[in-house]
Amino acid sequence: MITLSGERIMTSHRQSWFEGWRLFAVLGLILVPLCVWIAGMRQFEVDGVRLVIRFTARTSLLFFCLAFGAAALARLWPNAWTRWQRRNRRYLGATFAASHGIHAVAIACFAAMDPAAYAAATSAASYIFGGIGYSFIVAMAATSFDRTAQAIGPRAWRLLHLSGGYYLLFQFTVSFGKRIPDMPLYALFLIPLLAVFTLRMISMASKAAPRAAPAG
Ligand code: HEM
Repeated sequence: MITLSGERIMTSHRQSWFEGWRLFAVLGLILVPLCVWIAGMRQFEVDGVRLVIRFTARTSLLFFCLAFGAAALARLWPNAWTRWQRRNRRYLGATFAASHGIHAVAIACFAAMDPAAYAAATSAASYIFGGIGYSFIVAMAATSFDRTAQAIGPRAWRLLHLSGGYYLLFQFTVSFGKRIPDMPLYALFLIPLLAVFTLRMISMASKAAPRAAPAG
C-alpha cells in the first residue's frame, strides 16, 4: 500500500519541471533553440549545419551516459542526485533520442546542401553502423512508454535496451575515437564512455558477488 507521505513525494516529483516527461520537455525546449542558434551563427549555411551535427553528437553523448550509467551509479553511490538520475533515466534516454533525431535532421540537410562534402564525410561503414545505431535508438525510444514496454514484455525489453545500450556505447567510442589521430583532444570524449562502462562492470560484479560466495 502506498503511504500518504509516499504519495505526496511521488506527486511532488510528478509536478516538478525536473522530473518525468516535463524534464524531457524542458531539455528539448533548450536543445532545439540552441541548435537553431548554432546554425544561425553561420547564416544557416552548410558550415552551420555541420556545427549542429557535431553539437548534437556531444549532447547525445551527455544524455546517453546519464541514462546508461544511472542504475550503476545509484547502486554504487546512493544519494539524492544519483537517485534523481535513476528515477529519470527513461526521460534522459528520451532526450538522447531527441538529440540524435536532430543529428539525423542536420545530416539530411548537410546531404542536400553539399552532396560532395557529405559524400567525403561519410562511407559505407557510416551507413551500416550508423543505420544499426538509429534502428536501436528508434526501437528503444518506441519501447520507453509503459504500454509499449508491457507489450514486448520485460525479457525482450531488457535484451533490447541492454544490447542497444552497449552497441551505442561502442558506436560513440568508434565515432569519437576515429577522430583522435587528427584531433587528439577528442580522447576526452572517451572518458565518460569508459566511466559508464567501468561503473556498469563494477556494479554487475558487486551484484554477482554474494551469489558466487559458497553456501553455508
Ligand atoms: C546513418 C547514420 C549516420 C550518419 C550518416 C552520420 C553522419 C555523420 C557525419 C557526416 C558526421 C560529421 C559531421 C562533420 O564533420 O561536419 C558525424 C559526426 C558524428 N556522429 Fe554521426 N552519423 C550517423 C549516425 C550516428 C550515430 C548512431 C552516432 C552515435 C551513436 C553518431 C555519432 C557521431 C559522432 C560522435 C560524431 C562526431 C562529432 C564531432 O566531431 O564532435 N552518428 N556523423
